[in-house]
Amino acid sequence: MSPRPIIAVTRRLPDAGMNMLAAASDIEARVFQEDRPPTRSELLELLDGATAAVTFVTDPIDGDVLDANPALRVLANFAVGYDNIDVPAATKRDVIVTNTPGVLTETTADFTFALLISAARRVVEASEYVRAGKWKTWSPTLLLGQDLHGATIGIVGYGRIGREVGKRAAGFDMKVLVNNRSPLAIGDRATAVDLDILLAESDFVCLNVALTPETRGMIGKRELALMKPSAILINAARGPVVQTDALYEALSTGVIAGAALDVTDPEPLPADHPLIGLDNCLIAPHIASATVATRARMATMAVANALAVARGEHPLNPVNDVSS
Ligand code: GLV
Repeated sequence: MSPRPIIAVTRRLPDAGMNMLAAASDIEARVFQEDRPPTRSELLELLDGATAAVTFVTDPIDGDVLDANPALRVLANFAVGYDNIDVPAATKRDVIVTNTPGVLTETTADFTFALLISAARRVVEASEYVRAGKWKTWSPTLLLGQDLHGATIGIVGYGRIGREVGKRAAGFDMKVLVNNRSPLAIGDRATAVDLDILLAESDFVCLNVALTPETRGMIGKRELALMKPSAILINAARGPVVQTDALYEALSTGVIAGAALDVTDPEPLPADHPLIGLDNCLIAPHIASATVATRARMATMAVANALAVARGEHPLNPVNDVSS
């Protein structure tokens, strides 16, 4: 009997994914058991001889990793974004890369909006104020925030997630500006504008782009200076879309009023990073898709992609085109 194909999994998956792997008696699952990403040498060891791998945003996969593991046929990333993988290097080696589109769209848009509301209405600051025992009396000027209704939101990247953010914004009676390469669809309650105009006119600037060579560092000193001094920047995309030093400078000198970030560069930020000390910067640990139901859907989708290729079938969600 020929040995069963190996699916390497670089972190324990939510139960739905683990159960699927356990039920697949025709494959062997090799799962990294630590609650942290594998180091590079641990990754190479884990992938050794594997036909398929389920990977995460914390796993950098480059041509050298692929060369060390020529048996690998698919990288099934547990995320809609796949900037942790050198896709051209994978394509060159006929390795399929898959992602988890669609299943996290609304959940991520919900969290983008949670960041927006929390920053606008100073929810985290308010909670910290009460916990610190500072709440002595009601005050007419305590923790004043910004209204959402009537404000302008600028959505940079009007793809699946950006559109859902736009729908939520329209529900809050906000004016929606978007910056996107593709034309608006009928029914979109949004106005397409140039990025500089969006930055200058928005009260809330929401980043929902994929990280690509074009979007890396797209929000820097010049772009932040175009924003209103009262504006809030929300990043639920990828940390490197924003230049961290420029953001710190802008937040600490009043160029913009605040930021709410689900992603940072680097990630995680070191505990003593100056951005963490700013009262006007809310930071979450990359959890926009983190609901029980959505993470279960992402797990089953990633495992289905890995299983398909391990079984010689076509995966559901390839992002590259390989010849074999
Ligand atoms: C999460 O960051 C994702 O890309 O799904």
